[in-house]
Amino acid sequence: MEETAARAAAFPIWHFDFDLDGYRTEPSKAEWQNLRAAHFMRPLVEHYGGTLEGKRVLDLGCNAGFFSLTAIEAGCDFVLGIDGRQTHIDQANLVFEVKGVDPSRYRFECGNILDFDYRAVEPFDVVLCLGVLYHIHKPTSLLERIAEVNTDVLIIDTKLTKARGSWLELRLDNLDVLLDAVDDELVMVPTAKAVIVMAKQAGYQDAKMLAVADHEVLWKWREGIFTTFACTKQSELSANGAFRFRSLSSLYAAQGLALPKRSHGRELRERLFSRSR
Ligand SMILES: C[S@@+](CC[C@H](N)C(=O)[O-])C[C@H]1O[C@@H](n2cnc3c(N)ncnc32)[C@H](O)[C@@H]1O
Repeated sequence: MEETAARAAAFPIWHFDFDLDGYRTEPSKAEWQNLRAAHFMRPLVEHYGGTLEGKRVLDLGCNAGFFSLTAIEAGCDFVLGIDGRQTHIDQANLVFEVKGVDPSRYRFECGNILDFDYRAVEPFDVVLCLGVLYHIHKPTSLLERIAEVNTDVLIIDTKLTKARGSWLELRLDNLDVLLDAVDDELVMVPTAKAVIVMAKQAGYQDAKMLAVADHEVLWKWREGIFTTFACTKQSELSANGAFRFRSLSSLYAAQGLALPKRSHGRELRERLFSRSR
């Protein structure tokens, strides 16, 4: 216990709340992370009938392994977590060691998710792309590469830029911020439509936005500053009602974007959609 506390306290900052043998890492946004898990991990597990047993999971930008641990606790066979910062990988390994997770069920690797050799690993039923799509500058390339090793569901939780249509906004991250991009400050923040178009282009047959619970802590998701997408290659997203969806028009309304007049809107939508294909 004392040794665990000393090891955990040696990290200058934790971004997720863990109980490590009684030592709480306690970051400021702990409730937020638990609600995010309820928002997309719970429906994911329900989608597979209440367990991830038999599933292999890939967690991109895994940080200290919070969502990897959620997947393990939901029974998945194996999780591979990748993060570009060694300090996060060290945290994830400490968390899994203290939680007593069988080492044959996980691996954490330090690497850039844009360069990682995904074909060197066995395929994954589930890929988690949480909080990281807007910290990279090659989103189409990332989605295409992970689609090659993802046999079924991809969950994307991302910040959005506000606009109707399929757009990617160039922004600059701060490489000194531990949650930001790792080696290239140029990043692209997508619109909702761009995420759907990129996922379909990469090979996902369906891609939909998830409805968000009416909880004040999740206001950034309700207002469309962030949005979560469920994409699938095989299983039917609406099969057992585990996922509840949000329409583009409700997102635009939440983002404060006026819908175009009907005739003009139809023309605009058709034009943007054909352009983005
Ligand atoms: C905003 S945090 C998200 C953490 C967690 N997945 C979540 O959703 O809360 C982004 C994480 O991705 C990592 N990251 C950012 N760009 C990356 C890249 N190109 N390759 C690997 N990891 C990256 C950061 O180090 C950080 O831990």
